[in-house]
Amino acid sequence: MNVRVFASEQEAAATCASLAAAAIREKPFLVLGLPTGRTPLNVYREMVALHRRGEVDFSRVTSFNLEEFLGLSPDDPGSFRAYMERHLFQHVNLAPERIHFLDGSAEQAERECIRYDARLAAVGGLDLLLLGIGSNGHVAFNEPGESLQTASHRERLSRESRHAMAAFFGEDVSKVPLAALTLGMGALLRARRVILLAFGADKAAAVTAMVRGPITTRCPASFLQLHGNVEVWLDTAAGRGLETSRE
Ligand code: PGA
Repeated sequence: MNVRVFASEQEAAATCASLAAAAIREKPFLVLGLPTGRTPLNVYREMVALHRRGEVDFSRVTSFNLEEFLGLSPDDPGSFRAYMERHLFQHVNLAPERIHFLDGSAEQAERECIRYDARLAAVGGLDLLLLGIGSNGHVAFNEPGESLQTASHRERLSRESRHAMAAFFGEDVSKVPLAALTLGMGALLRARRVILLAFGADKAAAVTAMVRGPITTRCPASFLQLHGNVEVWLDTAAGRGLETSRE
């Protein structure tokens, strides 16, 4: 794993957005894996700024978001789909038919997951995956446990994850859905390039376990050690458990 510690979250986010823009210029039909949560907010802001300056054209890009809350429809303001509309989709020229999302309100979650994986397989998988990490080591919503799943699936959310997501539900944990649909580990590990971002002291332990720890289902992100093309971009607080050279 190639670890870079940036002087600030802002600098890491701007570099990430520029990298994505360069990847799109090089391959206009790029398939992009997109995370939600607090971590990518500045990345999306920077992508919007680059688009407004005419430096990136999303018109031929295909996007797959990583996760959606179970039981929330795409137009529910708490859904990740609504989050993406607010922070990216409304502001750039991604073609609606190239935007892919798990539908948390689908009647049959299992069938919805099969549909999603088939769509992703049909476009050849993710070219560039932007990822966050949970303070418990989850990636997308693959939560720590006895086992992990390759395919997209329904996942019961951990206490830590629900607490982390409370910020999006007026700080009321009881409003955070109990489960989500998520891409499985297979799609993440098959992505051709991964940029994992982590900011803040509450991510430091998970980052250290991911980079230095044993590969274990107790830290799903640790499986990224097996991937040949992962960059881990941190701010100083998230990187404090690792010995790396400063940017
Ligand atoms: P966060 O979540 O960005 O809200 O910290 C990260 C993640 O769960 O991947």
